[in-house]
Amino acid sequence: MLSLCRVVRPLAFRARRCAHNPAFSHLNTVTEEDVAHFSNILAPSSVFSTIGSNSVSSNDIATYNVDWMGKYYGKATTVLRPRSTAEVSEIVKWCAKRKIGIVPQGGNTGLVGGSISLDKEIVLSLGAMSKVRSFDPVSGILVADAGCILQSLSEYVAPHNHIMPLDLGAKGSCQIGGNVSTNAGGLRLLRYGTLHGTVLGLEVVLPDGTILDQLSTLRKDNTGYDMKQLFIGAEGTLGVVTGVSILTPPAPQASHNVMLALPRYDNVLPLFQTVRRQLGEILSSFEYIDRTAYDMAIDHGHSRIFNEEELKSTQCFVLVETSGSNKEHDEQKLTELLESLLTAAKPLIVTGTLSQSAAQFASLWALREGLTEAVQKEGKPYKYDISVPIADFQRVVDVLRDQLKSRGLYGDHAVSKVMGYGHVGDGNLHINVIAKHGYAPEIEQALEPFIYEVVASLNGSVSAEHGLGSMKPHALHYSKSNVSIDWMRKIKGTFDPLNIMNPGKVLP
Ligand code: FAD
Ligand code: MLT
Ligand code: ZN
Repeated sequence: MLSLCRVVRPLAFRARRCAHNPAFSHLNTVTEEDVAHFSNILAPSSVFSTIGSNSVSSNDIATYNVDWMGKYYGKATTVLRPRSTAEVSEIVKWCAKRKIGIVPQGGNTGLVGGSISLDKEIVLSLGAMSKVRSFDPVSGILVADAGCILQSLSEYVAPHNHIMPLDLGAKGSCQIGGNVSTNAGGLRLLRYGTLHGTVLGLEVVLPDGTILDQLSTLRKDNTGYDMKQLFIGAEGTLGVVTGVSILTPPAPQASHNVMLALPRYDNVLPLFQTVRRQLGEILSSFEYIDRTAYDMAIDHGHSRIFNEEELKSTQCFVLVETSGSNKEHDEQKLTELLESLLTAAKPLIVTGTLSQSAAQFASLWALREGLTEAVQKEGKPYKYDISVPIADFQRVVDVLRDQLKSRGLYGDHAVSKVMGYGHVGDGNLHINVIAKHGYAPEIEQALEPFIYEVVASLNGSVSAEHGLGSMKPHALHYSKSNVSIDWMRKIKGTFDPLNIMNPGKVLP
């Protein structure tokens, strides 16, 4: 059986987790009777438990008990895969009656340990709820079950000339309900905004089993409190999202991208200003990759974009994408941009590569989107997803590297790489610290709370888009005032007075 003991944490923390965790003492363990009840309300093929007469082995449910990074290991004995909102409601009613904790799980691609059972909670997987409920090709409003995979939804709306308003490297596995619950940002946020704007309505099973039907398809609805906003980014702590109504924008008629090589980080901000001014409404992404991240991607098989000579004077890269309605017009704008950048008296870039075909377009994006997987292959990553002023991106990465050096932890014996990439256009930096030989308490202690203190000193956020999960509740106070945290607790207490819904996540 996989246990939380395998999660590398400071030793004291580890010992506490492996004994009975007092934070979960209000919850009951799943019994044979519970499993029998679940088997009555769900199809037999929707219940997987290591308990009871039809028990499965812990190996059979192992994938539900470990996160995508292999950093967080769960303890769930029981995994339920309901097929309808009514079934979710019945499960939750029973869990409320029996005080059993519930961890909603989507594609399990979250990067902060939110979708893993920390103690004795069941995993409620939404994967079997994957139907599109309706799509209006005129308004672009899509209503779908929460378990629909993001990429499947993109493929569903594509023939109607629409796209999903969000895109991320995990699109092949993450679910729309998980996206909403983490308020995922991704690669299109600069253009289409956050899910707080594009989600029109939600269907949610509340922690007492009541179905809250707010699956509106209205663009405008000013009738009091906009409750759906509370569930966007709640990471399953306020209820189970079962249906999503979302506005899908028309597909751009022309998309282009260009990778720019920059001689120094200080040029990123003026470059962003220049690009925004010159490309105007067709700019759709402005993504940052530092030199360490680029070299790592090449090491892991991504196509070389620049030659050795160009790379000699390159410190970092920016991937610019345009999405517009007129191919020639957009190409001309991009070409003019490149020419003006290269011929400027004080050039902001070393060089740039403009994609000339669909394959090249995809290959430039593949390098950026593939960074998360490449990081995973390098070793065990500590991932810090922060919002800080764009001007400070590189400095924060450098300061963190220096901190590791000062503790003697930088080098192949401990941390082999510290790198930054992210969504410049959104002020969102992803710092990845690669522990070459696995997670280790001394590395975590060197990184935290140091990084959170740096972020707080810059008035930033300790979580820009990945959420808090079980990784960061203790760091919430670096970004939220006591008054805000108090009100978050009151909201949680109002919806979930028994604290059964994803306990131990988000709130400290
Ligand atoms: P899960 O990981 O299963 O769950 C995440 C959280 O949401 C958990 O707390 C869980 O309890 C809760 N939850 C899931 N489904 C529901 C539901 N139906 N109802 C209530 N609560 C629910 N994130 C970004 O923001 N931007 C990126 O660019 C990005 N890129 C990524 C690239 C890769 C390669 C990977 C592995 C991850 C990336 N992520 C990114 C993180 C992750 O993919 C997103 O957070 C995603 O939205 C999680 O969706 P999921 O279905 O996998 O949710
Ligand atoms: C990204 O922007 O690539 C994602 O948020 C995932 C990551 O931080 O690695
Ligand atoms: Zn990101």
